[in-house]
Amino acid sequence: MPEKTFAGIPTLAGLALCATLALAQNAPVTLTVHPDQAATPVSSTLYGLMTEEINYSYDGGLYAEMVRNRTFRGDWSGIDSWFLVENGDAAAKMTADTGTGPSNALPHSVRVTVEKADAKNEAGLLNVGYWGMALRPNTAYKGSFYAKTDTADMGPVLVSLVQNNTGKVVARTTVSNLTSEWKQYNFTLTTVGDLQPSAANHLVLTVGHAGSLWLDLVSLFPPTYHDRVNGNRIDLMEKMAAMHPQFLRFPGGNYLEGDHINERFEWKKTIGPLVDRPTHPSPWNYHSTDGMGLLEFLGWCEDLKMQPLLAVYAGYSLKGEHVEPGAALEPYVQDALDEIEYVTGGTDTKWGAERAKDGHAAPFALTYVEIGNEDWFDRSGSYDGRYAQFYKAIKAKYPQLQLIATAPVKSTRPDVLDEHFYVRATTNFHDATHYDKTDRNGPKIFVGEWATREGTPTPNMGAALGDAAWMTGMERNSDIVVMASYAPLFVNVNPGGMQWESDLIGYDTLHSYGSPSYWAQVMFGEYLGDHTPKSEATGTGEKFFYSITKNTAKKQLYVKLVNASSVPQPVEIDLSGAQVAGTAKLVSLSAPDTQATNSISDPERVVPVTSMVQVSGKFSHTLPAYSIQVLQIDEK
Ligand code: AHR
Repeated sequence: MPEKTFAGIPTLAGLALCATLALAQNAPVTLTVHPDQAATPVSSTLYGLMTEEINYSYDGGLYAEMVRNRTFRGDWSGIDSWFLVENGDAAAKMTADTGTGPSNALPHSVRVTVEKADAKNEAGLLNVGYWGMALRPNTAYKGSFYAKTDTADMGPVLVSLVQNNTGKVVARTTVSNLTSEWKQYNFTLTTVGDLQPSAANHLVLTVGHAGSLWLDLVSLFPPTYHDRVNGNRIDLMEKMAAMHPQFLRFPGGNYLEGDHINERFEWKKTIGPLVDRPTHPSPWNYHSTDGMGLLEFLGWCEDLKMQPLLAVYAGYSLKGEHVEPGAALEPYVQDALDEIEYVTGGTDTKWGAERAKDGHAAPFALTYVEIGNEDWFDRSGSYDGRYAQFYKAIKAKYPQLQLIATAPVKSTRPDVLDEHFYVRATTNFHDATHYDKTDRNGPKIFVGEWATREGTPTPNMGAALGDAAWMTGMERNSDIVVMASYAPLFVNVNPGGMQWESDLIGYDTLHSYGSPSYWAQVMFGEYLGDHTPKSEATGTGEKFFYSITKNTAKKQLYVKLVNASSVPQPVEIDLSGAQVAGTAKLVSLSAPDTQATNSISDPERVVPVTSMVQVSGKFSHTLPAYSIQVLQIDEK
């Protein structure tokens, strides 16, 4: 209370003290929950992942290939990421050879013309990797290349991993018996035991004899998640697993569409042996190896127990080219039908048999197919007709599939509509009620891309608060919002790695970290029930948000609370007489200010902390300033 004067009138000092005390915390919110009264179902597929080749997400990211430009693309400046090696008085030159390659898909190669070399003065090439090559001690790296030579006594190719700064060889092997025909050779490089983990390394391939050596598809992989051949980085897979994702939307995004029609994601060129994949330009200004092809996406789903959400190219590319509905669109529709057959068909179907040949006999379960991406950009107005044509053809063969439209259409009622939101935190605070009044008789909603865009390269705590507010709204409305996926998921934080600011998970060649927004996703994904119980709140200001879901089988309540204000927020929680265990798990993510963030050099500044707290049928709880919390309460 303010100090009073003798006449009972507050002094200025008293008023100031009163204001300070008032600001020390917000007025309490009262939250009444009725655990035994279900309000709305929560979609079991609510949280998933959206990915595409952006920010070096696959090449130089999740896809664990260590050799950059393994197929020796060259331009006026030379052959990207490869350099000539001439040890001692060896002499050689390196040229792009457009006249020979190991396959129709890879008709070009590199020719190393060695004029002079011997066992002590070798010549060859080195590859710098994707911002280096991450090496760890006592680790086996599996490699391969295609090669031929014009010299019968060329001798072995010496393959070495070398430290950039010391020149020290940390792993070495030889590959022998090269012939005049293209052939694939495999090797393993095992690093020495006394190695400090580092990305400052490169790969060297040399010979000790004059002659010509042609190379292509030079590849090197570290151990991968679940030991998959042509597989994924373990740390990034583990980070995704912690999010409990239920689906994977792939392959884009813009990456699906390409800048031009002939630069779209042509799935048929991304399956089978790597040597049969021609690679293609991506819209995010770098070339894709297509090592992450259709079957690799499906393997990724399998590894993380997610269902695939397959986006099919629908006749629109980013620079505005489109295919008119009708006969011209038919080949694209057929391509989508073939693609669905590749994913779901038995081995008695043409494309199911192709999948089996590629190494996966069992079909994959598929529920959702998305027709295109962000087709509201198509100013020609063709999407209505294009969607209808795909819809009719796919439903005729696969009536059970749910078909997602990427823009509103009139001539067909889509099963699901994909909506995208890239906003600031304040927008999410105001828009957390976005779906509260949405027509329940319309299409279901897929929030296929969304993010609070504050902070770079990865979002900060302020963004995480905006995200959490938005997610409370999606959970409350998950009877209609059946799926949601944050985008973009990944960013390589090395110089030149980022095309899009504010990405969920950052990494360099050796390490990775989750942003505060990532941790908010982990918390929301891990603690999610199957329905929302009825609840009411009073006294909520503009910066308090909540969502309550319940897992019926486990009799667990997940109370998610968000305080986006700068002072603590007391909450009186009334569980309407429910009998609850005396202690509850509390997971709390908070920071001193909205700018607080994680980075590659400070990866754990803002991370969730777990503790146990006392709870009862009616209890008080106070959220710290700038916090996101989950209370896991067990009902007796
Ligand atoms: O997530 C980045 C891009 O944003 C996606 O490729 C595109 O769909 C959207 O415009």
